[in-house]
Amino acid sequence: MTEPDLRHEIAHLARIELHTPDPDGTLWFFTSLLGMYETKREGQSVYLRGYEDPYQWSLKITEGPAPKMGHAALRTSSPEALERRAKSITDGNLPGEWTEDEYGYGKTFAFTTPDGHDLRLLWEAEKYRAPAELKSRILTRASKKPLQGIPVKRIDHLNLLASDVTPVKRSFERHLGMQTRERVVDGDVEMGAWLSSNILGHEVAIMRDALGAQGRFHHVAFYYGVPQHNIDAAEMFREYGVTIEAGPDRHGLTQGSFLYVFEPGGNRVELFGDCGFLELEPDFETKTWTMDDIDVVTAIGGAKLPWETYFTYGTPPVAPALSPHPAPEETTVAPAA
Ligand SMILES: [Fe+2]
Repeated sequence: MTEPDLRHEIAHLARIELHTPDPDGTLWFFTSLLGMYETKREGQSVYLRGYEDPYQWSLKITEGPAPKMGHAALRTSSPEALERRAKSITDGNLPGEWTEDEYGYGKTFAFTTPDGHDLRLLWEAEKYRAPAELKSRILTRASKKPLQGIPVKRIDHLNLLASDVTPVKRSFERHLGMQTRERVVDGDVEMGAWLSSNILGHEVAIMRDALGAQGRFHHVAFYYGVPQHNIDAAEMFREYGVTIEAGPDRHGLTQGSFLYVFEPGGNRVELFGDCGFLELEPDFETKTWTMDDIDVVTAIGGAKLPWETYFTYGTPPVAPALSPHPAPEETTVAPAA
């Protein structure tokens, strides 16, 4: 178990940047269907936030040749925690550097996971202050619930694909103080690990890339808080031509209620109906699932997570010829929206 003084160094997932070859379609998806507010445009990027996201943005959409995660950033619990985590990463010989970063956030430490993902740590975050017309009467709500689409409240969690789960998991435990709440093993091989530094069941997940590629992105989840919204959203996606991959259903692992779709640029997005199991025990024990229970791990209600996409498709897409484990041809093509 992680040393007690490390357990709360990371506060939460603050933001993500997604690259998209279809910026208009991606922006339509997140604003018109998921009700996110636009807060800034700069260059080839648009900055968005859900109505309960506390900062200036939680999602940055950047035009690019292929869908993928640009970076994701975790906020530390204090400026001192940021310095300590950066030192730990540097001492651990992971590539990293300080940057001034960008709109709405301050001093930032950028580093690369053992599998090549671009992650950032930061403390300074400018709080979102709603103008009068967007001010909510609910004081814990940063802005009014918008009258558009089925609006998400906030960013929830991040899921990364890795060629080898274990070194990435260990680096998050060692350098970020994150705790592995649940994992799935196939014999001696870790198929996935779900980690958190707060009471949420997970904020970062790492899953084995079935194509053997490095540093890819599986999905980002946005939070509804009400499972019915996943059913409402599924109806919306069907009517407006957005490809649904799986759900609505509830995972056994995390107990989160899920709906997976592909935004028009080709990145996978999860709608999180509720966050599932909350970990309140200070001395919890990591739960380890085996492949014998993969049906319960993936979906309690019997929905199938399709092998031909869910366990192989990540962004950026990988050509089967480059894969040590060739997959069906259609898995390498971004699903049409
Ligand atoms: Fe997820």
